[in-house]
Amino acid sequence: MKDASPQPIYLTDYTPPAYLVDDVHLTFRLDPTATRVISRISFRPNPDAASKRFFLHGEGLKLISSRVDGSDIDVRDVENGIEADVPDAPFVWEAEVEIDPKNNTALEGLYMSPQDVGESNASGRDSLPAIKPMYCTQCEAEGFRKITYYPDRPDVMAPFTVRIEGDEPVMLSNGNPTGEGDGWCEWTDPWPKPAYLFALVAGDLVAREDSFTTMSGKHVDLKLWVRPGDEGKTAFGMEALKKSMKWDEEVYGREYDLDIFQIVAVSDFNMGAMENKGLNIFNTSAVLCSPETSTDANFERIEAIIAHEYFHNWTGNRITCRDWFQLSLKEGLTVFRDQSFTADVRSEAVARISDVIALRGRQFREDNGPLAHQVQPDSFVEINNFYTATIYEKGAEIIRMLKTLVGDDAYRKALDLYFDRHDGQACTIDDWLTVFQDSTGRDLTQFKRWYKQAGTPRLDVTENWDDGTYQLTFTQTTPPTPGQDVKEPFLIPIAVGLLGPNGDEVQATKVLEMTEGTQTFTFEGLSYRPTPSILRHFSAPVILTRETPPEERAFLFAHDTDAFNRWEAGRSLAKEVLVGLVTGEDTPQSLYLDALATMLRNDDLDPAFRALALQMPGEDDLAQTLFDAGVTPDPDAIHNAAETLKQARAEHLQDLLPRLMADMEVTEPFVSNAEQSGKRALGLGLLKLATRLDGGKAAQAQWDRADNMTLSLGALACLLDAGKAEGPLATFRERWKDDALVMDKWFMLQIMHADPEDAAATVERLTEDPAFTMKNPNRFRSVFGAFAGHPAGFHQKDGSGYRLLADWLIRLDPLNPQITARMSGAFETWKRYDADRQGLIKSELDRILATDGLSRDTTEMVTRIRN
Ligand code: PHE
Ligand code: ZN
Repeated sequence: MKDASPQPIYLTDYTPPAYLVDDVHLTFRLDPTATRVISRISFRPNPDAASKRFFLHGEGLKLISSRVDGSDIDVRDVENGIEADVPDAPFVWEAEVEIDPKNNTALEGLYMSPQDVGESNASGRDSLPAIKPMYCTQCEAEGFRKITYYPDRPDVMAPFTVRIEGDEPVMLSNGNPTGEGDGWCEWTDPWPKPAYLFALVAGDLVAREDSFTTMSGKHVDLKLWVRPGDEGKTAFGMEALKKSMKWDEEVYGREYDLDIFQIVAVSDFNMGAMENKGLNIFNTSAVLCSPETSTDANFERIEAIIAHEYFHNWTGNRITCRDWFQLSLKEGLTVFRDQSFTADVRSEAVARISDVIALRGRQFREDNGPLAHQVQPDSFVEINNFYTATIYEKGAEIIRMLKTLVGDDAYRKALDLYFDRHDGQACTIDDWLTVFQDSTGRDLTQFKRWYKQAGTPRLDVTENWDDGTYQLTFTQTTPPTPGQDVKEPFLIPIAVGLLGPNGDEVQATKVLEMTEGTQTFTFEGLSYRPTPSILRHFSAPVILTRETPPEERAFLFAHDTDAFNRWEAGRSLAKEVLVGLVTGEDTPQSLYLDALATMLRNDDLDPAFRALALQMPGEDDLAQTLFDAGVTPDPDAIHNAAETLKQARAEHLQDLLPRLMADMEVTEPFVSNAEQSGKRALGLGLLKLATRLDGGKAAQAQWDRADNMTLSLGALACLLDAGKAEGPLATFRERWKDDALVMDKWFMLQIMHADPEDAAATVERLTEDPAFTMKNPNRFRSVFGAFAGHPAGFHQKDGSGYRLLADWLIRLDPLNPQITARMSGAFETWKRYDADRQGLIKSELDRILATDGLSRDTTEMVTRIRN
């Protein structure tokens, strides 16, 4: 229910908990609409707390009974929970509550999945056997209070014993199994944990089983639980898990700490996955895959998410967050760890480029709009709204910069100290920085601004050459963000290399440490004027605003010894062409096309790298670039410019296509590894070009013979572009109607490839398809996420796109506030656009805000966007 006006909470208001928990014992009597949760919790007064108020969080619970030390006790209902008078000494709290998992559509707390039996099958036809719903929990951030009364805050950590009673074939919770009998089982998690890491799963599940021997020789059982029928999609996930376990031992010295590690796949899940201690719960889309049903991109994402959740065991679980303002302590670090893992097991250059594409697409977008916020915020209304690209991806960039600044060895030493000093604790970002200060002796006061100042710094560069001395002068400016008008200079690590005329390095990569608003760095004793390669490996999350002649970019695109900057040079050249096409200015088009052809032809380059260099800059990215340059972006004009350039590229590269496409054919059996996926990625990039020239002939041929989803879906996308997809779409639907994850692709693809003026109508048509349901987050996202990701379609001048999305957000909010709030981010760029579009969006935002009973989540998001 909506509060009159949702009140923010503040970091500075933090106080330690009044009571600590020594032990938690929970009994669940499972029932779809009336589950009983019986708790026995040992409390003791916290010697470090000033308050003696005994308060327990609780939301939507029916209290059956409550006792302290065996005697019934009266409780008082207060905001967000209950209060009671308790002894000023250790005591045992017992309560019994009733909850209703079946009608929990918010997917937070204990809920059932699938949500609507009968409708839940992808085809939506009643003739298909209904899937029996399973029980499942999601507690991060504040979902445990929907399960029972408890101090639901991460700085209260306790060991849990959980007894589950019910007739479900499989019943799981955190930790090790410690007992079972007819209709019950018991799990014990000896490691003290906050309630947000609690998990319970029960239902008709089957496991892929395996094992892992840790570096100290301990045996760990591994189980990956799925619905009967999904067993064939578990092999890759299990391998990824074992690789992750090994990697964390080798690179961070971290060993697993229970007898068993389990993953469960759930089809209704708000996020990607969740790191519950010993029992990770995954969105099916983040773990299930097979060559026939999943693309290389799916495989890559799954490998990274499995690693991410596993790595949380140390960075998140053993060491957790004191409060939710510290969220990036676990998320930034864990994203950085999963990025490093991907770089190690795949290609380092490709991984870095992909990370930066994602960072710019999501975090820069956020940081340059009304939702910009600090990596460590000072206040928030609804914590669920802060699982953002800024907390995650910018948080990871901050860790990366820290590592760049102190060096690899010092980084590892600092991490050892972090684990040593803080194991078993709930920590702050300050604790983390103090570890680095103590172990390296470096003062990190200025560095901390990365956590406290929102916004993306702009880095301007000028150069000076004087008789053997070369100078680079940098100026940093960070635009104001909501609530922060003035920014102090950041400590920016700028990795620079200098290249000679033949592309040889006259100065190997060197990290310049910029601390001032404007600062000059000097390189002496050069025999000729070098070409600078600045911000190598994307050494800081900033926007470089340097006027560079196109010839220099073409030179770097051909010669830079830093793979990231080499790619970056090509991308910025492409952007320059696109900007010119939009504004009607001269463009370096032929320079770009020639450089692109040379790059593609270079067989020494990894196909995956070439595929990334061939990828066009996104239309949303271009809109931001134009806006930054003082041009009001017109989504149609941007779309047309992109079409023009795509056509020009196809024509220019025509002669190259047959040879290269043949080279990219993979003849070995499908494995989604770096080598094969790189070839397929480049092959598909080339197929798109070919489609513009042959009207879909090659795509049709690929469609006809493809035996894996990567090639089928790639071909289908091209057939959609060529307007020849009608038959294939029907075939695809018929073949995959019972596979929800593949059907998500079917929905998504049609929207992504709709002509701008047809996109809204396509969305409307697809929401009327019997397989559409807004109760499943994946399905909702596959339609509306794709729509929001199609700027020219979403931003149609008549406002039809805005109205359509607002209608659906209003409809979804009462069911699932989290997804609604998240999806409202589609509007976050509205201030870039012209007055007409702004007016149309504003009235939709107002319409959403005027909705009766609008959730706190959505109210906060839309209000922040609107301001
Ligand atoms: N903590 C999860 C992760 O980063 C994300 C998540 C947040 C999942 C909140 C569910 C709810 O891996
Ligand atoms: Zn995480």
